[in-house]
Amino acid sequence: MDNKVIIPLDLEYSAAIDMAKNFNPEHCKLKIGSQLFTSSGPKIIKELDLMGFDIFLDLKFHDIPNTVYEAISSAADLGVWMVNVHASGGKKMLEAAKEALKNYETPPLLIAVTILTSLSQEDLYQLGLDDLSLQVLKLANLSYECELDGVVCASTDTAAIKERFGNKFITVTPGIRPNESNLNDQSRVSTPKQAIKNGSDYLVIGRPITGSNDPAEALKNIYKEIL
Ligand code: C5P
Repeated sequence: MDNKVIIPLDLEYSAAIDMAKNFNPEHCKLKIGSQLFTSSGPKIIKELDLMGFDIFLDLKFHDIPNTVYEAISSAADLGVWMVNVHASGGKKMLEAAKEALKNYETPPLLIAVTILTSLSQEDLYQLGLDDLSLQVLKLANLSYECELDGVVCASTDTAAIKERFGNKFITVTPGIRPNESNLNDQSRVSTPKQAIKNGSDYLVIGRPITGSNDPAEALKNIYKEIL
């Protein structure tokens, strides 16, 4: 059950390094998102890699196919463990992302964001989209057909995705909140235990760990809950 938790370092450079020192690379992976990457650049990846961590570069690329092809190649050159795009970028963009990795001996896992876990059904109506679960399944289906390794989705969508696309299709689930936690800006949330029960392969858990007075203890408590 170890190494199921991905901790996002939504922090600045030195705070991110200090935060990483709380953890053992055998027990968690680290996620670098737009805040940290925009402020620190590739050097933060090298630094955390030297500390032994697997890195999920969460830049959620969403652009024309050629730009995404080049961005994914650059991410693979940095030696990250996982990288992602928005599934709503469409078939050609997803195929370009996949194509970019074909000449790497050990390419990063390539996954696609379905619908952000901060979005509710009401938000989807405002975007002109209807049934949220159906949209998630459609985007997961597109990602599967383009041979991506998996998707980012809410824990509540995991069981349906696993049932339809099989166990090998990876599900990474943010929006995880231990019982007593603050929701922050997340909308569709689950507890760590429920997420594992639903079949999530990796749980992205940020503020309940990084915002705690004792992040190492907070991670330990999450593993206690899911074991
Ligand atoms: O602090 P919290 O646990 O809400 O952090 C969740 C992390 O997962 C953030 O870094 C956020 O950018 C990311 N994320 C998300 N929903 C997605 C994809 C990524 O919350 N669908």
